Amino acid sequence: MKFIVFEGLDGSGKSSLMAALEKELQKRQIQFHHTREPGGTRLSEEIRNMILRKEGPAPTSRTELLLYEASRAQHVDEVIAPKLRAGQWVLCDRFTASSVAFQGGGREIKESDVHALNDFATGGLKADLTVLLDLSVEESRRRRQGRGEANGESEDRIESEADSFHEKVRQSFLKQARADEKNWLVLDAKNTPDVLFQQLLQVLSERKILV
Ligand code: TYD
Repeated sequence: MKFIVFEGLDGSGKSSLMAALEKELQKRQIQFHHTREPGGTRLSEEIRNMILRKEGPAPTSRTELLLYEASRAQHVDEVIAPKLRAGQWVLCDRFTASSVAFQGGGREIKESDVHALNDFATGGLKADLTVLLDLSVEESRRRRQGRGEANGESEDRIESEADSFHEKVRQSFLKQARADEKNWLVLDAKNTPDVLFQQLLQVLSERKILV
């Protein structure tokens, strides 16, 4: 079993890359579970709604971080750890690195506090690989707006933050990847979905994650 996490700014193509990997796992008859943060359990999805809705009271930065961590603790205990124990792969759309990037980088909460809360929420569970789909803030905004117009979705509370916020988020993701190269893969999200998938497959094979 392997635990693979996908990170990046909104609109970076995480869903398509995850779908491509899932097809490959199906082809190889490897069992997997697809999940996301915040969310992935009933309670965590309720917490997700509290965090991301734009109507109703907005949490302060520290409360926001604690809500992401509460959602994560439930998700790890109820889904991620049991699935891994059962031998399945877990593919997760965002995980601890998002808290470091958004709440640490974006909201400027002390990084050591974010790390401590991440460790508490996960019980020390770490991804075998974190795939970062790196995208400029400008391109992320363009893609989000295009998606909003296409399906009538409006931006959530985090997405509607200023470009300066998203720039800090992007830089934090890149910094985390540089600090832990053997557990991260940085892909240029401007590449086509096909190229991105081939790059992912190659690294999964080189690092003996998918053999
Ligand atoms: P995501 O599901 O990627 O958004 P969407 O469904 O719009 O693609 O993530 C929801 C938002 O939550 C996203 O803007 C990033 C943010 N987030 C944090 O700020 N901290 C966290 O720890 C996580 C997991 C997500």
